[in-house]
Amino acid sequence: MYKRLMSRRRTLWLGLGTLASIGALFKNQVMSWNNQTQAIETANRDFKVVGGASLKQRAAAKGLIYGVAIRYHNLFSNQKLAAVIAQECGMIVPEWELKWHVGNKPLRPTPDTFDFSAADRMVKFSRTHKMQVRGHTLVWHESLPPWFGETVNRQNAEQFLTKHIQTVVRHYAGQMHSWDVVNEAIEIDDGKPRGLRNTPWWQLLGENYIDLAFRVAAEADPKALLVYNDYGLDYDTPEDEAKRTAVLKLLERLKSQGTPIHALGTQAHLSGGDNRFHPRKLRKFLSDVADMGLKILITEMDVKDRTLPVNIQERDRIIAAAYEDFLSTVLDEPAVIAVLTWGLSDRYTWLSEFRPRPDRLPVRPLPFDADMNRKLAWNAIARAFDQAPKR
Ligand code: XIL
Repeated sequence: MYKRLMSRRRTLWLGLGTLASIGALFKNQVMSWNNQTQAIETANRDFKVVGGASLKQRAAAKGLIYGVAIRYHNLFSNQKLAAVIAQECGMIVPEWELKWHVGNKPLRPTPDTFDFSAADRMVKFSRTHKMQVRGHTLVWHESLPPWFGETVNRQNAEQFLTKHIQTVVRHYAGQMHSWDVVNEAIEIDDGKPRGLRNTPWWQLLGENYIDLAFRVAAEADPKALLVYNDYGLDYDTPEDEAKRTAVLKLLERLKSQGTPIHALGTQAHLSGGDNRFHPRKLRKFLSDVADMGLKILITEMDVKDRTLPVNIQERDRIIAAAYEDFLSTVLDEPAVIAVLTWGLSDRYTWLSEFRPRPDRLPVRPLPFDADMNRKLAWNAIARAFDQAPKR
């Protein structure tokens, strides 16, 4: 091991010398160098975990909640998966079943009908196992039904949105820990005022659709924590910086106009080996959010491994390091109350479809492997919970 490390280090120095001598830092050279540094650095971490407690127990010991997103079909067709979820999680979030229309059992199959059967069964499962549930999501530019375009127009859009939120939120009133009321409303590249995304809702209702959604949700379930959820807030890049700024401004606007918003959800779809992680900047952003009186949830964490080594041991170390670095930073902020990963097991992850590896090897973004065994990422999460200050 030591020898391998030294020879990698030598490669690194040689690499550095070459880079310095040619004086030009091409992007992909820098990237591969970064991955290499990360691999060496992570080789020195032990990821040791003390005791046999589950993630659910370790989180609870600090006043935190750990949970996962899960699809109906996977939950009820794989008993091993269901058992591990019941053991390790204090919360679930239906990955599809509370969006307007995903898969073959959509929530709102026609303009006038709602089908709660799938989500109801998931909520029942969570109650049986003493877990909480999050609702995801009421307003999003994706997962809109096929009938949406021909049915919803400027005249009836407010009515459609209001009816949707009233019906769905009332159905689960008193049973939901929190709702992602609005999902992904910022997209700087769309070039709209205040960085707002050019979504169907924005086109139909203007930017007040956000306030409207929160007000209707608050009325329909005064107990649920109402969340604004977004991604791309994680790294020290100009894009993420601009998005953090736009999100802060959006939250400030909503707070100042009295919109009933209670929390920010940061999705945290991370990239393994990305050295643009800047703990201090992220920490500052979270303090700024907390200073507005908002709670924070890490809502959809996973770690992409597209560019990481083929070797599974090496790859898993880099992925675990990303979990540990991110969580040790964010859990330092007492306003963070929950951590959810976007799935439990590598067998069921949206990334195998949405961010496959170029070599087509199975992706490994989650804390459990395809056979439901704990991975190093599990250790990293456990360690971060164990080291977190108590809420
Ligand atoms: C993803 C699901 O995981 C996929 O299965 C689905 O088809 C598309 O959506 N941000 C979100 C989630 O807020 O709803 C997305 O979930 C992942 C990105």
